[in-house]
Amino acid sequence: MGSDEVGNDHGEDREHRPAPSAPAGVPEQGGAASDRDPVAAGGDPDLPTLPDPRQAPPLAWGILGPGGIAGRFAADVPAHSTGTVVAVGSRDRTRAENFASRWGIEAAHGDYRSLVADERVEAVYIATPHSEHREHALLALDAGKPVLVEKAFTRNSGEAREVFAAAEAAGLFAMEAMWTRFLPHMVILRHLLDSGHIGQVLSVTAHHGQWFDVPPAHRLKNPNLAGGAMLDLGVYPVSLAHDVLGSPETVTAVGHLTETGVDAAEAVILSYPGALATITATMLARTRNDAVITGTGGRIEIAPDFFGPSALTIHPIEGPPRLIDPHAGPGFAYQAAEAARCIRAGLTESPVLPWEETLAVLRTMDQVRRQLGADLPGEY
Ligand SMILES: NC(=O)c1ccc[n+]([C@@H]2O[C@H](COP(=O)([O-])OP(=O)(O)OC[C@H]3O[C@@H](n4cnc5c(N)ncnc54)[C@H](OP(=O)(O)O)[C@@H]3O)[C@@H](O)[C@H]2O)c1
Repeated sequence: MGSDEVGNDHGEDREHRPAPSAPAGVPEQGGAASDRDPVAAGGDPDLPTLPDPRQAPPLAWGILGPGGIAGRFAADVPAHSTGTVVAVGSRDRTRAENFASRWGIEAAHGDYRSLVADERVEAVYIATPHSEHREHALLALDAGKPVLVEKAFTRNSGEAREVFAAAEAAGLFAMEAMWTRFLPHMVILRHLLDSGHIGQVLSVTAHHGQWFDVPPAHRLKNPNLAGGAMLDLGVYPVSLAHDVLGSPETVTAVGHLTETGVDAAEAVILSYPGALATITATMLARTRNDAVITGTGGRIEIAPDFFGPSALTIHPIEGPPRLIDPHAGPGFAYQAAEAARCIRAGLTESPVLPWEETLAVLRTMDQVRRQLGADLPGEY
């Protein structure tokens, strides 16, 4: 697998997953949800109104770090929301120019400082390796620019606190680009849980495994670039558990390391009063990548890949299962639209993914990596 494919780390099966037939009240598939009416959940009174990225205020983005996932942002945000990408910055001018020409971006900068200083840029999307997020977020904030920072937000919770403190001091917006939180199926999931569809939640199980055939120097295996399965893949199931159950009372992790010393695979149990989350992450194999939330009144299954645009099936204790598929399209624009809404409203943090939530997820991942002996060089 090449690095471009690695950048698009969760896609193959989702792209090819046969679309389930639409349940009553839910529109048939026919392009992104944003191509249709704002209420993608189909007007079902049982379901919430979904945000439409094309109804968000326009925002001009600069991309910092033109790697694999940056290409997806450049493709999806202008195509599926009101956002535009007006500039890109690379450590290398030719790489910036190639990326700009591929995606039709007006300005290409051969260093990150010029990108964040570009007056056309209203917000910066940071898409560098995890080890660099803190420095690059601080660079953009220092230049007066709000930031959307790829997951994992930083290497650890201490670094995230520094970034949020800088955002607070500058009165600027900052958010983790945990795109899953903003996808329609997650809006529906939170609504179903809040309205008691499966009673009291007793367990969350979620898995994220990808097969990465990359050399030891690649960011995924390189400790100096904060590689490892937890920060790259496990962040999704950990974030889901936090979304559904909050911060755990205890974190218990077992796993093993790569020959380079980053975590290759782990199984993690998060315990809560009366509830458990069971999580696996691995970069050695592509696992099923589904998620199940079980409560006293039934369970909700999120179809693989649970972290991308997905369908939900509610299985009540009695009665037939019910499929809900919001047909969200590629899905990457929802997080950018949330950032645009918050920035235009003068908010410094998103109510959907507030700073404390990103910090709590990182605190859990800090504990996992400590238990596995997967500390990263220079992080503490
Ligand atoms: N949301 C998702 O679905 C998803 C999927 C994949 C990855 N991600 C996240 O996106 C981020 C980037 O991942 P990626 O797969 O796109 O990485 P990538 O392909 O390796 O690209 C990273 C970019 O960062 C820049 N960079 C800056 N400092 C660097 C350094 N010291 N070493 C290497 N590159 C450096 C490079 O651009 P220049 O040198 O040209 O400036 C490079 O192109 C990570 O946080 C990752 O977890 C998210």
